[in-house]
Amino acid sequence: MKLTMNGRELNGKPGQTVLQVARENDIFIPTLCDYPGLPPHGSCRLCVVEVAGRSNAPTACTTLVEDGMTIETETPQIRELRSELLRMLLAEHPTACLFCPEGLLCQESMVTLRKTGVTTGCRTCPADKQCELQEMVELSGLQGVAYPVRYRALRVEKEDPFFDRDYNLCVLCGRCIRVCESLHFTNIPTYVQRGDETRVGTSFEQTHLAAGCSFCGACVDACPTGTLWEKARKWDNKPVDGPLSTCPFCSLSCELRVLTTRSADAIIGSQPAEAGGMLCVKGRFGLTEMLNHPSRLKGVLSIEQGHSMRSGWEDAVSNAAEKLAKCGANDFALVVSASCSNEELYMADKFAREVMGTAPILGAAARYGAGLGAVGRLLALSKPLDVMEQANLIFCLGLDASYAQSVVEPYLKRAKARGAELITLNAAEHVPGRFASMWLRPTAGTEQEMLEELIQSRADGPVGEAGRLLRSTNGAVLLIGPDFLSRMPDAIERLQAASGANLVAIPAEGNLGGALRLGLGAASNCATPQVLYLIGAPIPEALAANTFILYQNTHAPSDTPHDGILLPMAAFGETEGSLLDQGGRQKHFSAAVAPAGESLPGWEIICRIARAMGKPGFNFTSAAEIASEMASAPAGLVRDVELPTWLKAPGEHDFLGSELSQWVAGLAALESAQREEKQGVLAD
Ligand code: SF4
Ligand code: SF4
Ligand code: SF4
Ligand code: FES
Repeated sequence: MKLTMNGRELNGKPGQTVLQVARENDIFIPTLCDYPGLPPHGSCRLCVVEVAGRSNAPTACTTLVEDGMTIETETPQIRELRSELLRMLLAEHPTACLFCPEGLLCQESMVTLRKTGVTTGCRTCPADKQCELQEMVELSGLQGVAYPVRYRALRVEKEDPFFDRDYNLCVLCGRCIRVCESLHFTNIPTYVQRGDETRVGTSFEQTHLAAGCSFCGACVDACPTGTLWEKARKWDNKPVDGPLSTCPFCSLSCELRVLTTRSADAIIGSQPAEAGGMLCVKGRFGLTEMLNHPSRLKGVLSIEQGHSMRSGWEDAVSNAAEKLAKCGANDFALVVSASCSNEELYMADKFAREVMGTAPILGAAARYGAGLGAVGRLLALSKPLDVMEQANLIFCLGLDASYAQSVVEPYLKRAKARGAELITLNAAEHVPGRFASMWLRPTAGTEQEMLEELIQSRADGPVGEAGRLLRSTNGAVLLIGPDFLSRMPDAIERLQAASGANLVAIPAEGNLGGALRLGLGAASNCATPQVLYLIGAPIPEALAANTFILYQNTHAPSDTPHDGILLPMAAFGETEGSLLDQGGRQKHFSAAVAPAGESLPGWEIICRIARAMGKPGFNFTSAAEIASEMASAPAGLVRDVELPTWLKAPGEHDFLGSELSQWVAGLAALESAQREEKQGVLAD
């Protein structure tokens, strides 16, 4: 269809709005309540336009284009109408800086000003120069408010982890409410009170934690003002969009965009790859705190009798090579984390086999034990989350999704809204249990027995009925959470074989798939290593006192009871590489900033030590070169698992050998809330 906008002949399609056609043709119309992925709302009215033949000024975001339509977006009347709408919005917003004649001259004192506890204007607002309202006012050329300005004097809500809420700055655009509703089908933020007193808050004035928020941060990303603001970067300047990358914290490997400082010397945030997308709390808020934590290992350190001394790469590498050269294959062990990249895992494997003549130990093997082979077979069958979009039945085994991996929740809710059956098996309170059609609830510790009943599907009652439904439903999906996958992989394998259902298995580790495809396991049993090379793995407690440790990690260990060398490893975002996600897809991550301090990519440290030992085949200069050698290597196969007694099993929320909550303060608050909820339920 043909239409005219600002004198230009344009094409539009049926169902398109005036705003969409304008944007397609680079015609700017101011907006505030519009947000990608959300249906038009029409509440801010800033997008008003003139349409020939209509006496009112319709909103461009809610008006569909029609053949022959003539639209003007910038007439004096429209500009004045928008200015008046802004004046009314600003009558309830701190405006001190917006119209201050010295507004741009107080930059030098801004740092001091921003320490103030009350936001009185843009210079004291965390969203300064990142605020859509500020931008709209500047574009409008507005010179003042012309109404008495009312400060709402609401208390800034700071009790929750991860983000603060200052509703004195809220313009009631509803983006936070609608984004939470569209992703989670719930209203954690909602309109409260009525009339002039209408504002956004939570029901019964609860904290977000008490209201059941998953802290996915989607509302923070959607908020156009400084109302909802991330604590960890509350007073940072406007970040710069870094490259698209992949979250390393679990096997879902969500795509994200890292945000850096303007000089690209630090990562100061992460956001979903697209506006309107979603990450879970770990990917959205965990990365910044982890990367910038004071315990980051930035220099090479040599440890002797509990004392650490600065060293350099040359000395450290030659000392490590000397120690290793004196150590036989039976006295050496190398443990590598399943959170490492494919390239790091490959080099660790190659080093252990070709240089030391032994097999590496995968740290995660201690978590899966003899079930590691079954987990490898399950991961070979596992499909990406998208398979749930067509499922008629989703059978959810042990997935929690309250905080970590909350990205799964929208898939389940969409399936439910489509009419798919949702059955969940879990002993504890969990998110899918809140809306499942059937919750099979064994007592804690008897989950395996219920799984066996499901496999048999003979008994009367809900378990047998659920098992028969699973077998008879075409396009059913078995969705396996990290806890069940680690505890009952054999039973899950038999249930999948008996039902023929599609499988979506979600291991906790970011790259377990990559590690198992390489055939890493724990087939060597070195009872008392003389030299232990730990790559992203924690220092085990049950070691002989004279074990020499090569500790290669992004963060320093909390204790250094052994002599050894601390080798600083570049973190996610500081180096490039790849992971294999839970659906078998290769995901890449890129370097957005330089490695912190003296740290080096993990694979490079391994190569330097191998070269110092005079071994050929370790002359790689990039992750891409390693990837190309890996491509020609045959896939490995996990064989018998024989765990050394000293190997420590990683927890579900560990990353590179430490609990993520050690570095990310808010996660500790969530874990404790979750523990209390579970204890409360058990006590009931
Ligand atoms: S953080 Fe996520 S779950 Fe919590 S209120 Fe915001 S959008 Fe809703
Ligand atoms: S809190 Fe932010 S997103 Fe929510 S209504 Fe207010 S201004 Fe809009
Ligand atoms: S679901 Fe997993 S991959 Fe996605 S953001 Fe969370 S921790 Fe990262
Ligand atoms: S953007 Fe159209 S009414 Fe708000």
